[in-house]
Amino acid sequence: MNDTPVLAEANGLAARLRTATDAAHRAAESTPYITALIAGQIPRAGYTALVAQHYFLYETLEQAAEAMRDDPVAGPFVADELTRLPWLAEDLAFLLGPQWREQIAPGTATDAYRDRLREVCFTWPAGFIAHHYTRYLGDLSGGAFVAAAVRRTYDFTTDDGTRFYQFDGIPSRGRFKREYRDRLDALALDAAEAERTAAEAVIAFELNRAMFQQLGAAHPASPAVGTVNPI
Ligand code: HEM
Repeated sequence: MNDTPVLAEANGLAARLRTATDAAHRAAESTPYITALIAGQIPRAGYTALVAQHYFLYETLEQAAEAMRDDPVAGPFVADELTRLPWLAEDLAFLLGPQWREQIAPGTATDAYRDRLREVCFTWPAGFIAHHYTRYLGDLSGGAFVAAAVRRTYDFTTDDGTRFYQFDGIPSRGRFKREYRDRLDALALDAAEAERTAAEAVIAFELNRAMFQQLGAAHPASPAVGTVNPI
């Protein structure tokens, strides 16, 4: 009957991004590193390494957000309550101590990710949106599973070490994501630009997968980690 809004959504950029990245999402979330992290089998140093890589990645992504803040297309996606870098710094201080900054370095996969961010996110608004969508909508979705697993695995009794996954400024993630998708759908991109944007989001997922592969190679799963207290 009155299904016009549903049809409009089905053809919109939000649905398009979700569909285009579906396979890449499954590939990223099923890398051995992520699977083992959720299963509680990554030693604490391996989780710390993920937080460190996130630090470098968000440093560049959030520099791009500042550059795009006043852009008429990308600006509406920039939201202070999403900003993660200060929370990553807190998590690293908790995990590594006050000298954390001297103990971390980006891996080559993270460097490649940052190169791509620098290449597209400062000059191409829809490219910035593709990368912004891939990380922040993911952090607001699967991030909750990761945080719960991490707290359980390393016996974190407070939010210390997983503050990156808290979004205190976003009381309803569901609502925030709905409004975000509405903003995607409201973008007046032509077909070629929508296609390019979806392709960039697939690249963003691939860059994440490569980063997780590298983390997995450096920090293999160890079944003993999660079996300390099996009951
Ligand atoms: C720990 C593994 C992961 C799990 C369990 C997971 C789970 C989920 C779930 C359940 C949703 C749907 C949420 C909803 O419809 O509201 C979702 C959405 C999403 N995830 Fe993941 N995810 C994981 C990893 C990732 C990774 C590594 C990325 C990218 C870096 C990512 C990016 C996204 C994005 C962009 C969405 C939004 C899709 C859309 O609605 O358009 N996820 N995830």
